[in-house]
Amino acid sequence: MTEEKLLEVKNLKQHFKTGRRQVVKAVDGISFDIYKGETFGLVGESGCGKSTTGRTIIRLYDATDGQVIFNGKDVHGKKSRGQLKEFNQKMQMIFQDPYASLNPRMTVMDIIAEGLDVHGLTKTPQERKARVEELLERVGLNKEHANRYPHEFSGGQRQRIGIARALAVNPEFIIADEPISALDVSIQAQVVNLLKDLQKEHGLTYLFIAHDLSMVKYISDRIGVMYFGKMVELADSEELYKNPIHPYTKSLLSAIPLPDPDYERNRKRIVYDPSQHDISEAPEFREVRPNHWVLCTTKEFETYKTEFQNK
Ligand SMILES: Nc1ncnc2c1ncn2[C@@H]1O[C@H](COP(=O)(O)OP(=O)(O)O)[C@@H](O)[C@H]1O
Ligand SMILES: [Mg+2]
Repeated sequence: MTEEKLLEVKNLKQHFKTGRRQVVKAVDGISFDIYKGETFGLVGESGCGKSTTGRTIIRLYDATDGQVIFNGKDVHGKKSRGQLKEFNQKMQMIFQDPYASLNPRMTVMDIIAEGLDVHGLTKTPQERKARVEELLERVGLNKEHANRYPHEFSGGQRQRIGIARALAVNPEFIIADEPISALDVSIQAQVVNLLKDLQKEHGLTYLFIAHDLSMVKYISDRIGVMYFGKMVELADSEELYKNPIHPYTKSLLSAIPLPDPDYERNRKRIVYDPSQHDISEAPEFREVRPNHWVLCTTKEFETYKTEFQNK
């Protein structure tokens, strides 16, 4: 991880019109930076806006408001075809569902080579084939797999194909949207380890999305916690686990099953009650401890700070 920002998300909003007077505020004014070479974990329960955040960052949706700056350049707004192509190459996405995200009628060769073709990255059919085979082997599959179709593979293997496809165009930034949630627990660690190795080899930067905090700690440098379209807490991964501040983060942490059965039996689940908050003013993102930000009112800010002084 470096001090250099790769991605800056500023007051990003994504509001979906779902009826004449109905709007879903899927993402409602979130801000965070991602530094070159780091893994930023984005967590929160299903429906809180994680995927919408990822999809808006890579321009699958136009933002309702706010900015996304990638390598110093605004991603949204009017862009030339050349600029769009550049963003599409540098930012790639790995999806949650390895069944739905691969075209069932295409061979693995053509799925992985699609980006190579679009961006003209290989010159001859031989070079194209060699590059796909190299990618397959790198993600733990073998070159004979190139002529097969997605349904011939297991969930974990399909996710490896999705990773090879993302990797093919030499991206700088990969958004992994719950890449292991649909996989057997026994396979999850293998895929996470593959992602970590690839990050080291290629200097990749990740936005790693997950709905619980169990695997995220292991892969992330920093973690942001989302609740109903807002970022409620952001800190270094260690710090967030050791000193969670926002009651919602505490409830997420208390939901992680513990490996030791004795501890597991005595584990206390904390239930988040949004009505416990001070509502005297609109909450803002405030730095309660160094580099540890929490969405809170001035009054809550004082309470949170005192809690740590007395610890
Ligand atoms: N294209 C869309 N149109 C309308 N509502 C949407 C759309 N995509 C997502 N939503 C809604 O936005 C909210 C956030 O969804 P999503 O980003 O998928 O959450 P998560 O990935 O955290 O589970 C949900 O209430 C969801 O129903
Ligand atoms: Mg999602």
